[in-house]
Amino acid sequence: MSVKTYIHLTMSHQYPLPDVFQDDDVRYPESLVEHFLEQYTQKGDVVFDPFAGYGTTLFTAERMGRVPFGVERDQDRVNFARSKLSNPENIIQGDSRLLANMSLPEIDFSITSPPYMTKENHPQYPFAGYKITGEGYNAYLQDIRNVYQQLRTHMKPTGKVILEVANLKVENQVTTLAWDIGKEISQVLRFDGEVIVCWDKYGFGYDHSYCLVFSVQ
Ligand SMILES: C[S@@+](CC[C@H](N)C(=O)[O-])C[C@H]1O[C@@H](n2cnc3c(N)ncnc32)[C@H](O)[C@@H]1O
Repeated sequence: MSVKTYIHLTMSHQYPLPDVFQDDDVRYPESLVEHFLEQYTQKGDVVFDPFAGYGTTLFTAERMGRVPFGVERDQDRVNFARSKLSNPENIIQGDSRLLANMSLPEIDFSITSPPYMTKENHPQYPFAGYKITGEGYNAYLQDIRNVYQQLRTHMKPTGKVILEVANLKVENQVTTLAWDIGKEISQVLRFDGEVIVCWDKYGFGYDHSYCLVFSVQ
């Protein structure tokens, strides 16, 4: 079966965010999650998001009859996501860099959009809520790999993993974030290829992003 390697989506959401989050809308749309859940999962499958944000993956998965789990470090986002889930305890407030020690069921499928970092001029560290400085881009990439190495131990051998991520263009300086993350995770999961998502509007200097697709085996 040939898989379409580009899709068109609009950056719109079915649920408004409360006013308090309006300046910090880092969500991807439900339509992106729906597209890949239809392609790679069935009803009853366990779907996991290691950077769950406002819970888009989780409540879309639940609506489609999948069993959602996720981890998010920010308590306010966790609270919002919990308010949308039938089983609010399925989103764990915590640090995905410690995934190996978390109690989770066997995972069929994972999809997320990770926190972003530019290669230069980005002193705040994404995995610590942009609150500490001093860690660099290489540490960020190592942490991403570390998260997926640990995620692998929770996944079924038939599992698939997707990250939605863009390269970043800031004042004509490009951070090849998508390619760097792809290369890093390829060391712990098998890279199957990418789907280009063409958006009506996006950001980070681009109007498209990539969904990097990996297999456990
Ligand atoms: C791009 S957002 C994900 C948004 C999500 N896809 C949605 O639609 O709501 C990335 C999330 O990763 C979270 N995050 C950053 N570092 C983390 C960590 N170490 N462990 C768990 N979550 C983390 C951030 O707080 C942020 O909410």
